[in-house]
Amino acid sequence: MCRPHYFDVRYSINPWMDPTKPTVTETSLSQWKRLHDLFVELGHRIDLIEPVPDLPDMVFAANGATVLDGRVLVARFRHSYRVGESPAYLDWFGERGWGEVRQAEYVNEGEGDFLLAGDTLLAGSGFRSDLRSHAEAQEFFGRPVLGLTLVDPRFYHLDTALSVLDRDEVMYYPAAFSPESREVLAERFPDAILAEEADAVAFGLNAVSDGLHVVLPEQARGLAGQLAERGFEPIGVDLSELLKAGGSAKCCTLELRPAPAAD
Ligand code: ARG
Repeated sequence: MCRPHYFDVRYSINPWMDPTKPTVTETSLSQWKRLHDLFVELGHRIDLIEPVPDLPDMVFAANGATVLDGRVLVARFRHSYRVGESPAYLDWFGERGWGEVRQAEYVNEGEGDFLLAGDTLLAGSGFRSDLRSHAEAQEFFGRPVLGLTLVDPRFYHLDTALSVLDRDEVMYYPAAFSPESREVLAERFPDAILAEEADAVAFGLNAVSDGLHVVLPEQARGLAGQLAERGFEPIGVDLSELLKAGGSAKCCTLELRPAPAAD
């Protein structure tokens, strides 16, 4: 995670960002800290990357890389405003001795667009990550990649439209995807939880699940109910300040998956 020390909305690269609307640093810091502390209470280990001045979106750590089997594919950002984040992640992983650390050749916004479901990487394109980044990720990680096309600019990253709850359980907002990708999702995840628009625009799909607890924006009440019906424990958090930049719980969270320990 990355503390929102320099968080602000100074430019607009998604429909949620309005640079004329003020952000309140104290509020973003306290909302983020509550999310951080909640993960700790749930038993997760949190590593922090130092925020860098003039990179106001760096709080969205999910975009920094994709990390799987100890291999690290560092992001290549679409917009110039965020390109400075990649060197920070290259250094962070390099200094900590992670195995293979490489920056993606094609535009690739990390876990914003790449989500692991079982052994498959679900990969979004349409707004940010380049279609060619899907093949690149498949070669880098040696895992099958299932490409999904996003069509609604409000849901510009895969993690704003779909959330992996467990190995093969997901929830998503169908209208965020092209008709073809909707068919692929229906086939692959016939029992998925389907989100209503009101929950999707509250960023309810930008959730972090450990297989039982699902941390999501508290405004997504419908989804919380659907999750509880399926036996999950939804935990609502208020990240309204970060939503001004088009991000919520999942965007703030990059999952680190080390290589399995050798016997
Ligand atoms: N303002 C950021 C951007 O548009 C928000 C990124 C949100 N991150 C995410 N994983 N969806 O790039």
